[in-house]
Amino acid sequence: MSDRYAVIGNPVAHSKSPWIHARFARDCGQDLDYGRIEAPLEGFAATVDAFRAAGGKGLNVTLPFKEQARQYCERFSARAAQVVNTLCFDGGVFGDNTDGVGLVRDLRANLGVELTGRRVLLMGAGGAAQGVVGALLEAGVAQLVIANRTMGRAQALAARHPGVTAKSYASLSEPADIVVNATSAGLAGDALALPHGLIGKGVLAYDMVYGRDTPFLAAARAAGARACDGLGMLVEQAAESFLVWRGVRPETGAVLAELRRA
Ligand code: ATR
Repeated sequence: MSDRYAVIGNPVAHSKSPWIHARFARDCGQDLDYGRIEAPLEGFAATVDAFRAAGGKGLNVTLPFKEQARQYCERFSARAAQVVNTLCFDGGVFGDNTDGVGLVRDLRANLGVELTGRRVLLMGAGGAAQGVVGALLEAGVAQLVIANRTMGRAQALAARHPGVTAKSYASLSEPADIVVNATSAGLAGDALALPHGLIGKGVLAYDMVYGRDTPFLAAARAAGARACDGLGMLVEQAAESFLVWRGVRPETGAVLAELRRA
């Protein structure tokens, strides 16, 4: 029987992960089966227990379970200090987070964006933002500001990372080279209440949401910024999860290009 993996979330019907991992498996000559599991909102742990009992080898975790996944782990990597998007069941329950690497690789390798020495503004302080702060700092950014609608959450996240500052949207004034939207506002079609003139020519505006033109990206483009969605991050975090599970990192270029065409 093939080794079994899946993405677990709620909702999960839209997830492209099964398609991506099937492509990776084919490209790498690996025998695995990757499905999707919609867990009840109150039933994450029980659903994972059942998957493991049936011999499941690993899971990708998506909304809204990334923090619960962290609680579920017996061991975890340093990059999964707060939220987990990858569970591995080889010898206990190991948690990892590949979102940060995924974002950094997409920016650097796919989009050709230099991170070292750059000023980065990260918007949001939920699970998506928490998952990428460490990787951005490791990439050598010169400045990292976290802004969030609920200021207390931005302050709590910044306080865990020396050198990172927290701001409200209204108090943002310093220019940034790269602005990353890690909020879920775009999923609801909402714009962020950013000060006028914050994003313009020469800025890279990146939205972790993919598959739709969010108000954030549309406004950034209209202001002359370079606007990029999170499809590349999706593919890169998947490749890193595949590496964690299978010990081999798949090529991502052709897979990303095919998803873009679709
Ligand atoms: P995720 O795992 O996607 O990060 P989350 O933990 O619920 O989900 O966090 C959602 C993030 O999007 C938060 O930063 C949230 O801001 P608050 O902390 O103030 O709630 C942000 N967010 C969601 N909808 C938003 C909106 N309409 N405007 C601004 N920020 C929004």
